[in-house]
Amino acid sequence: MVLPAWWQVVTPHKDIREKSFTEAVFAADLGDVLSATAPEEYRDPRLFFAKTYLTAGLKNLARNVLERLTSGRGDPVIQLQTPFGGGKTHSLITLYHLVKFFSEINHIEQVKELTMGGGFTGVRVAAFVGTSADPVKGKTPWGEIAYQLGFYEVVRDHDVRRVAPGKERIKEIFQKSGPALILIDELLEYIVKANRVEKVERITQGQTLAFLQELSESVAASEKTALVLTLPASILEHYDEEAEKALAQLQKVSGRVESIYVPVEGMEVYEVIRKRLFEDPGDQKVHRLVAEEYLKLYQGLGTEVPGEVRETAFREKVERAYPFHPEFIDVLYERWGSYPTFQRTRGVLRLLAQVVGDLYERKVTAPLIQSALVNLSSLPIRREFVKHIGNEYDSVINSDVTGKAVRIDQEIGSEYEKYGIARGLATAVFLYSFSGAQRRGVTLPWLRVALLREGVPSTIVGDAVNKLEESLWYFHAEKHVYSFKNQPNLNKVITDREETIEESQIREALSENLAKLTKEGSFEVYPWPREASGVPDNRRLKLVVFDPALKEGMPETKAFAKELLEKAGATFRIYRNVVFALAVDQDAYAGLKGKLRRYLALRDIAKDTSLSLAPASREELQAKLKQAEKDIPYQVINAYRHVGWGGNGGVVWRDMGLPPTGEGSLTGRVFRYLKDEKPILSSITPKLILEKGMGQDEEEKSIREIYDIFLKTPGFPCLESEEVLLKAAREGAEKGVFGVRIGDRLFFQEPLLNPEPESLVVRPEKAAEEKKSSSGKPEEGGETTTGGTEGRKEKPGPEPEGSPGGKKEKRPRKVVIKASVPWDKLSYIVTGVIKPLKTSGTEPEITIEIKAETPGGFDRTTLDSKVKETLSQLGAKIMQWDEE
Ligand SMILES: Nc1ncnc2c1ncn2[C@@H]1O[C@H](COP(=O)(O)OP(=O)(O)OP(=O)(O)O)[C@@H](O)[C@H]1O
Ligand SMILES: [Mg+2]
Repeated sequence: MVLPAWWQVVTPHKDIREKSFTEAVFAADLGDVLSATAPEEYRDPRLFFAKTYLTAGLKNLARNVLERLTSGRGDPVIQLQTPFGGGKTHSLITLYHLVKFFSEINHIEQVKELTMGGGFTGVRVAAFVGTSADPVKGKTPWGEIAYQLGFYEVVRDHDVRRVAPGKERIKEIFQKSGPALILIDELLEYIVKANRVEKVERITQGQTLAFLQELSESVAASEKTALVLTLPASILEHYDEEAEKALAQLQKVSGRVESIYVPVEGMEVYEVIRKRLFEDPGDQKVHRLVAEEYLKLYQGLGTEVPGEVRETAFREKVERAYPFHPEFIDVLYERWGSYPTFQRTRGVLRLLAQVVGDLYERKVTAPLIQSALVNLSSLPIRREFVKHIGNEYDSVINSDVTGKAVRIDQEIGSEYEKYGIARGLATAVFLYSFSGAQRRGVTLPWLRVALLREGVPSTIVGDAVNKLEESLWYFHAEKHVYSFKNQPNLNKVITDREETIEESQIREALSENLAKLTKEGSFEVYPWPREASGVPDNRRLKLVVFDPALKEGMPETKAFAKELLEKAGATFRIYRNVVFALAVDQDAYAGLKGKLRRYLALRDIAKDTSLSLAPASREELQAKLKQAEKDIPYQVINAYRHVGWGGNGGVVWRDMGLPPTGEGSLTGRVFRYLKDEKPILSSITPKLILEKGMGQDEEEKSIREIYDIFLKTPGFPCLESEEVLLKAAREGAEKGVFGVRIGDRLFFQEPLLNPEPESLVVRPEKAAEEKKSSSGKPEEGGETTTGGTEGRKEKPGPEPEGSPGGKKEKRPRKVVIKASVPWDKLSYIVTGVIKPLKTSGTEPEITIEIKAETPGGFDRTTLDSKVKETLSQLGAKIMQWDEE
């Protein structure tokens, strides 16, 4: 069922609709009523009663006064004591109009209800209002009251001399006047004002108190007279100690004969509000319907909402508070109302007038006005709150409620944006966060009540509150009670600290983590080399971990990988097939950086002893730090997920994807991946040795040379170790895929235990032929050769296979190289060939052979002045110079 919006049912008063009301409209002032300067709704008795809700207290008061004035029974002296803005003055004005204009208004329903057939005919009324009276030049309270009753002469002298007249004079007035009602409002304010003028005026306080006592006693002693007097329930901040004493004395003096009446009690405030804000309360049936639907909503939610709102009695509450949700009025009345400055009913009325004006103008569609709908970006509304709690909360609202929460709604879109979920919740939490008393903050069940209405998905609340908790700065969650404070919460401290973390710290932390994650495994690890020369050129398996600045997919990354696989500094890389590159994923790295930054911030904060954090926040901090420490290794592994190696047509890059949970080693993961995906092999078939390791025309080749072919040739499988080949050689010899020659002994189609890197692989045709031709000779022949003997001896030997120190390598003592070299690569010959030879031997002897041809013929200058001259300057010995 689609419920009507509240503004389709009730109509606010014109001044509220048009937002033209002034604060005076919610400040009943008896003085202004007397002087006819009050707003019409207070001055005109008809309008006044139209906007007055007859509370039980008001009825009780009026009837009591009536009784006293007409029959002499009932309380003679009545004290109204409520918090500020509790309806005291309103009660006095009610009595004033009733007595003063009775004959003109006795037909009004409200008046009839109050007087129940009785009447105030022939009663005089006099009122003294402390705020309007001038304590220096104006009449004294006794002068004013006597004057209004028409018997000023009786106390003229006392008034002029400003001394209390005494009981006898007062009784005399009452005797003369007949039934009389005395109203006194703001007497404390009068005394405070007098005391402030001059110290000598202190006398006023004493005389006023004396008068009040005399008056109370005279009223009690005189038939058909009544005194109604108001007192604030507490002292305002701007009052001093004197005022406090004065209030205590006033209470004492009037307390002897008092009866206390409470003008507005419990749920009555709902009706008072309705009367004062809406000209047309709308159809009662609709109120009931809406109340029923809300009750159904809550009953459907079960324990997600407080038990109180699921009870049938709550329906009546909703009905009576319509168009407001009682939750909203209660938070204002009970929590905000406990600030003396908020002024209870008046404060609530003023605030609601602003809220109604704002929602009416914007035609916000909602069946009831709930806390979550309050628009804290409206300045007048915000001011009504902030003035009680301090201006610093302006920045809290700006930052969190109208700032971050609104952004959450916009970013998430859908329901969040449609209903303003995050903003509404933040607003409600704000409203529930403050109280002049102890109770502060709100629980999830009550937050649901403050936010949920027809259409709003209830399941969203928990998630949305988590989002607020994650990103708002002043939002605190302690033991499942949410509130705003002007102290930033841990999140804010963390975000602030994060801003101070330098890029270099992040790199350092990453580097530390990388070191731990690459400790184990089959690779030699080279973290973040700046140049290709930083990675040596040898047979060992290498994992080159790229600097995170070189992210996967970037041109610089591709270029560096290419350089790395092709060159080892100035020389060309020989062992290209053992180099693997590892680069970060752009997105995953961004995430990792954020995590590292957070981790470093947390670590800093944890160490910072000067920071005053609540114990709960400290605990939370430790928990977060622990979690971050645990998460980061995984995140590092996740970021370094692109592995590259040399393929046939250049570098191949692969995304290893999300690492499995619990992965604890980066090198381990890469190695496993490469083995699974085949670039690294831990076993091969013997056939592969023939196919890949030997040229068509090669009949015999050492295992070491074949191994080198695999290590050098991009696109070939990378063998995990030389042992892989030795194993395949054993198998090949045994199965006759090829022969293996160890020394002079050839193994073919027979078991072979320990091939060595120097052993030769012999093509099967040749091996078969050799075997055939030697089959006539005695087998032992081989044994006489040294190689054979060695081979034999080795067989049962316990020597570990492939042990590098186990056997002496046969090392050539001399090399003679004749090579044809591309002319433009000559400089590499110096760095890559001559220098290494020189470093490990004596000075090499270099002879170069140059053949140059040109169809047009070389000119003599080139040959003589350039070529010959240069050679002789270099100290070269020209051994041959032929020209054709
Ligand atoms: N029964 C009522 N019906 C309608 N409006 C009411 C009623 N009682 C109080 N109000 C309104 O509530 C507001 C506050 O009441 P009022 O000014 O009488 O409080 P107060 O106790 O005199 O406050 P203060 O301590 O500041 O003097 C006023 O706008 C008043 O008109
Ligand atoms: Mg008042």
